[in-house]
Amino acid sequence: MDRHDIALIRFGGVNRALAQIVLDRGDDLAVDLGFTLRIVAITDLRLGSLMQADGIDLAAVFAMDADDTFAGWRGGTAVPQNTYVIRNTTADIVVEATFTNPLDGEPGVSHVRAALEAGKSVVTTNKGPVALAAAELNRIASAHGAFFAYEGSVMSGTPVLRFAAETLKGLRVGEVQGILNGTSNYVLGRMEAGLSLDAAVAEAQARGYAEADPTADIGGSDVQLKVVILANEILGADITPADVDRQGITGVTPEDIARAAAERSRWKLIGSARRDASGAVVASVRPVALPADHALAGISGATNAVSFGTDLLGTVTVSGPGAGRIETAYALLSDIIAIDAKQRTRQAVVA
Ligand code: HSE
Repeated sequence: MDRHDIALIRFGGVNRALAQIVLDRGDDLAVDLGFTLRIVAITDLRLGSLMQADGIDLAAVFAMDADDTFAGWRGGTAVPQNTYVIRNTTADIVVEATFTNPLDGEPGVSHVRAALEAGKSVVTTNKGPVALAAAELNRIASAHGAFFAYEGSVMSGTPVLRFAAETLKGLRVGEVQGILNGTSNYVLGRMEAGLSLDAAVAEAQARGYAEADPTADIGGSDVQLKVVILANEILGADITPADVDRQGITGVTPEDIARAAAERSRWKLIGSARRDASGAVVASVRPVALPADHALAGISGATNAVSFGTDLLGTVTVSGPGAGRIETAYALLSDIIAIDAKQRTRQAVVA
């Protein structure tokens, strides 16, 4: 039985959920997938850095946390500590799940680069490193025989990037458009029910959908990064966030909502990218009043969805969760499974 040793960079909600999946379902996964997963390092200021060659007793880690043994932790990210663990762990796959600044992608970019340069594959759900530096990081991965996977950077565990790359193979995709932020979709729905924008945002925060700073959600910058990722990965573009016109939902008024309802339309924050007649990629984030029969009009609550405009199939839409700890941890697991498959293919070719 093959085995992957993994290092968890930051033990926050998402990596805890991944650890719980490994703890609860490791044996089933081994049967289903043909490999076992072993956590050999965890780095987090709350835990100190735990790094040992024989794997970590997760039940003991969870118990330590429950006892609040590290109550002195004050938050923040320990980049030197993380980088030390990334370079020195025996793990072959690094799971990067730090709080990363979406504007400069740090510390995620530095962590991913350090791991790939050390020949370790990386999985992450952080948007910043992917939207801002995927081309560079993929080059480093190839040069060092490693893989970089980031399915959860858009729509958490709901398959989008791999769905487009593998399931839609053979089709030409000329356009992607979607509801890519659960918070703003939830807020627009609650405004339809009569809540003010502020009250609806407070609800979304209480439900755990919103980013630490919800202006990224309702101002559209969260979607802007996701549009960059979709355009570059699926349309083969080479754009940056500055290339995506952005307008959030803060300008949508109760009157706008009422007018749309009277016309049987619904306001949605739509991220889109398409190739125009000249072949250039045009991308934007903006609120749109969609007619009731539009594929994205019925997407409610915090659910996300992406429609792919294809040449042979017309429009294909995928919908599902776009956030959540377990859902995002599943994205990491799906990336690990994909990396294992790529490694097996490479070994088969070499043999
Ligand atoms: N805050 C985001 C959302 C979470 O509301 O969709 C995932 O990026």
